[in-house]
Amino acid sequence: MRFPDPKFLHRPIYAMIASVVVLAVVGYVDWLTGPDLAFAQFYLLPVSLLAWYVGRRSGYAMAVACAVVWMYVDAVSTPQQHEALYWFWNALVRGVFFVMAVEVVVHWKNTGTRLAQMVDERTQELKAEIAQRVQAQASLQRLGAQISAAEEAERRRVAYEIHDAVSQMLSLVKINLEAAQSAAPTDPKRSHRLSDCAGMVDRLIQQTRTLTFDLHPAMLDDLGLVATLRRYSREFQERTGTDVEISEIGEPQPLPSSLNHYLFRATKELLNNAVKHGRAKEIVAAVHWESGGLRIVIDDDGSGFDSVEALAPQSRRGLGLPGIRERITTLGGEMQLDSRIGEGTRVILEVPLPVNAT
Ligand SMILES: Nc1ncnc2c1ncn2[C@@H]1O[C@H](COP(=O)(O)OP(=O)(O)OP(=O)(O)O)[C@@H](O)[C@H]1O
Ligand SMILES: [Mg+2]
Repeated sequence: MRFPDPKFLHRPIYAMIASVVVLAVVGYVDWLTGPDLAFAQFYLLPVSLLAWYVGRRSGYAMAVACAVVWMYVDAVSTPQQHEALYWFWNALVRGVFFVMAVEVVVHWKNTGTRLAQMVDERTQELKAEIAQRVQAQASLQRLGAQISAAEEAERRRVAYEIHDAVSQMLSLVKINLEAAQSAAPTDPKRSHRLSDCAGMVDRLIQQTRTLTFDLHPAMLDDLGLVATLRRYSREFQERTGTDVEISEIGEPQPLPSSLNHYLFRATKELLNNAVKHGRAKEIVAAVHWESGGLRIVIDDDGSGFDSVEALAPQSRRGLGLPGIRERITTLGGEMQLDSRIGEGTRVILEVPLPVNAT
């Protein structure tokens, strides 16, 4: 319960004036009504008022004043004569009663003040904790972005290394094989072997191209996420026989390179999952550019699965989905998974933009 708490009473002088006025009014009404009507509790008003707003000592002073006024009013309004001891005793009992009231009020007020202080301190502590957590979250996000950038730089380095050293060497081997083959057209056995080798080198060149594209699809930086996904989906469709449709909604925004590469890899993993586990016949991936965020929604018509069970720590089957969830969280985004057995799968990747990454 909240009592009215007029602001002016917080100034001691006004609280003193108010309690003296209340005492005067109470004393006057007590005198008017005579000794037959009980009035004790009304004398508590000025005592409590002063004890609450000014303090213990002023409360004591008012307790004495109340006892004296009450005794005086009693004396003037009581017809019978009494010994001085009678008045003294009554005034003493009333005074002690008011002093006890002062103690209760002061104790009450101190408890309230202590509680308010404790609430204040706890609130400050909680605010500091929240600020610390926000800071920790921000540095985790920065760290996540830095890891992404470092990983991407390494992939890029390895991709160029493979391209420059292995692919070029393989192309030279292929040229030499073709030259050797045309130099020995009369020996069919040798010619057959050489053309076999040339075929193998061709496949190796193809494989290293796929590997370098997997490691670091250079076109991502030039043409962007959706164009690269479309190119990948064509190759994926040929390889797996599953229809893949990539759509784009909204105005494309520039993405930090590492995020671009990361989202491409995550989408690839989800397409692979749909075919590998769900045996999906059709996959639809929609890239939504929204103000302040990017959302990729991937739906497949595959077998579906119990996502809660598959991602539970005790029954985790692979690294794909947990890895995506972890990384996307460190980038400040989230992954939502909606799948039920027999009903296909929907995965939503959401990241805020712009992200602190390069
Ligand atoms: N689109 C999907 N349709 C059906 N089941 C799925 C689908 N995606 C994931 N799953 C189920 O969830 C499990 C976990 O997938 P996750 O990608 O984490 O691991 P994985 O693909 O088994 O292994 P990894 O990705 O490490 O090679 C899978 O084993 C599979 O049972
Ligand atoms: Mg997987």
